[in-house]
Amino acid sequence: MKTILILNGPNLNLLGTREPAVYGSQTLADVQALCESAALANGFTVDFRQSNHEGTLVDWLHEAGALHARGKLAGVILNAGAYTHTSVALHDAIKGTGVTLIELHISNVHARESFRHHSYISPVAKAVMVGFGVHGYALAIAGLASMQDA
Ligand code: DQA
Repeated sequence: MKTILILNGPNLNLLGTREPAVYGSQTLADVQALCESAALANGFTVDFRQSNHEGTLVDWLHEAGALHARGKLAGVILNAGAYTHTSVALHDAIKGTGVTLIELHISNVHARESFRHHSYISPVAKAVMVGFGVHGYALAIAGLASMQDA
C-alpha cells in the first residue's frame, strides 16, 4: 500500500478556532480523520503532519523524496499556509525531490488579499486544490488516486 504524505504548515494547528468564517469550524484532528477515511477508501495509507517551522517542512519533503525513490509514495498533499506566498526553500525542496505534489488551500486564496495571489508552490505542483474548504483534502486524495491509474 502506497503512502500519501499530508503536510500542513503554519497556523493550521489553529483550525476550528482560527477565522472560522474563512476556514470553517473543523479542527485539524477532524481533517486528519477525514483524510484517513478518504485514503483508506482509495487504498492508501496516510501520514498526516503539521509544523509551524519552514525547515521542518523542508525536511519532511526530503523524507517524501526518499519514499518516492523507493516507489512507496503515492504523492504529497501540501497546505503550506502562509509559506506558500514566501518560501523559495519549499519551492526548491519540491523541485529537488521530484515528488508528485498537490498544493492545497482551504480558502480561495485568489478571492482574498493580493499578497495571497502569488504561490511559490504552484509552479512545482502537479495540481492545485483551492477553495473547497476542508473537503478539498478528500478531493485531493481522490485526485492522487486517479493519477496512479493514468
Ligand atoms: C491557506 C491560505 C494561506 O494564504 C494562509 O496563509 C493559510 C491557509 C488556506 O488553507 O486557505 O494559512 O493555505
